[in-house]
Amino acid sequence: MLAQEIIRLKRDGRRLSSAQIECFVRGLGDDSWSEAQIAAFAMAVCLRGMQRDECVALTTAMLQSGRVIAWPDLPGPVLDKHSTGGVGDKVSLLLPAMVAACGGFVPMVSGRGLGHTGGTCDKLSAIPGYELAPGTGRFERVVREVGCAVTATGADLAPADSRLYAIRDQTSTIESLPLITASILSKKLASGLQGLVMDVKFGNGAFCETLPAAQELAQSLVEVAGGAGLPTRALISDMNQVLGRTVGNGLEVIEALDYLTGRAREPRLHELTLALGAEMLMLGGLAGERDAARLKLQAALDSGAAAERFARMVAALGGPVDLLEQPRCGLAAAPVALEVLASRAGRLTAMQTREIGLLVLELGGGRRRADDPIDTRVGLSELRALGETLRAGEPLARVHAADLAAAQVAGARLQAACTLSEPGAAWQGAPVVNE
Ligand code: URA
Repeated sequence: MLAQEIIRLKRDGRRLSSAQIECFVRGLGDDSWSEAQIAAFAMAVCLRGMQRDECVALTTAMLQSGRVIAWPDLPGPVLDKHSTGGVGDKVSLLLPAMVAACGGFVPMVSGRGLGHTGGTCDKLSAIPGYELAPGTGRFERVVREVGCAVTATGADLAPADSRLYAIRDQTSTIESLPLITASILSKKLASGLQGLVMDVKFGNGAFCETLPAAQELAQSLVEVAGGAGLPTRALISDMNQVLGRTVGNGLEVIEALDYLTGRAREPRLHELTLALGAEMLMLGGLAGERDAARLKLQAALDSGAAAERFARMVAALGGPVDLLEQPRCGLAAAPVALEVLASRAGRLTAMQTREIGLLVLELGGGRRRADDPIDTRVGLSELRALGETLRAGEPLARVHAADLAAAQVAGARLQAACTLSEPGAAWQGAPVVNE
């Protein structure tokens, strides 16, 4: 079948058969189609959409375009969690070790930062020696021996998605519900999961700005994953403020280790981590109900078992063997650290979260172009949360930057991105997880 025939059908709003979708995806994998044809297909799907069964066929075909990992004989369920992207979201650094300490196995393939949102791979790249592309054999061995491994998506997992994604990125076709759904799920299905928990974020720092948009994406992900044979649950979480106290790759690793070792646990981060982790344990049959699952996760933190799993994973993937004992966990510090002060007294009632993600990107913590290097030392720490009251001159956060001029620019942007209302202003905290 000709690519242009498949494109014409979708352009005219017709439903594609599984055979037509499989044919198109085969062509993506074996380079039969030109970039123009792939771009036209993506735009046709973006404008015309897909029925659920078409999206299941697209997901399955992309999954089958590469290697599919199998996990025979593991003594526990194979589980994963995926987030649609946020600012300061370091939950993917926490849950693999916590779930592994509760008896699950988590082979997490993760991505690099996209736009203003951070990526788990970039965060882990701050750890000296950590191998993000350890090769198939080592990845599987670490999952078996430690219970979790977090690495970059291998080029051999759903390669058709990589080709389509690169072209979507250049043609304004990222924002398509069926294409996002198939892209995320094909990679997750290829890693051989038995259960997946999705964290679909909404708000001014998320890809979905509104709750209804996030609900629609969550429903698409859950239904398509179910159709492709992967039991999946989705939680919808608030991204109208930074999650936790830090933004920036190395700083988020330090916050994650503070969390795992119990040195500091920001309440919203803790709530979301337990909520997502509880769904993972229930999905994997490791806990019967929510309260029991949360207690089990908390026990894994309190006993030090989760921190110990994280440290073992890092050591097994080439990082320092004494990560937990080193000051700053062995991570490099930025040359400049500057306090950003509240310009007036008031209650912190709003954050422009996307703007905060962008200012960290422009400090060098993210990429403008796919091949840009990143500076894992830069970002924000000690960031205050919505609802907190500050005195004039009290620190709002600390900026970590390569030089003083960059720190001052970022500090001014942070002040402008945070709304300080009258000290007694009413403020109703948003729930971190929406049912
Ligand atoms: N993340 C992905 O992996 N794919 C998308 O299309 C969007 C976000």
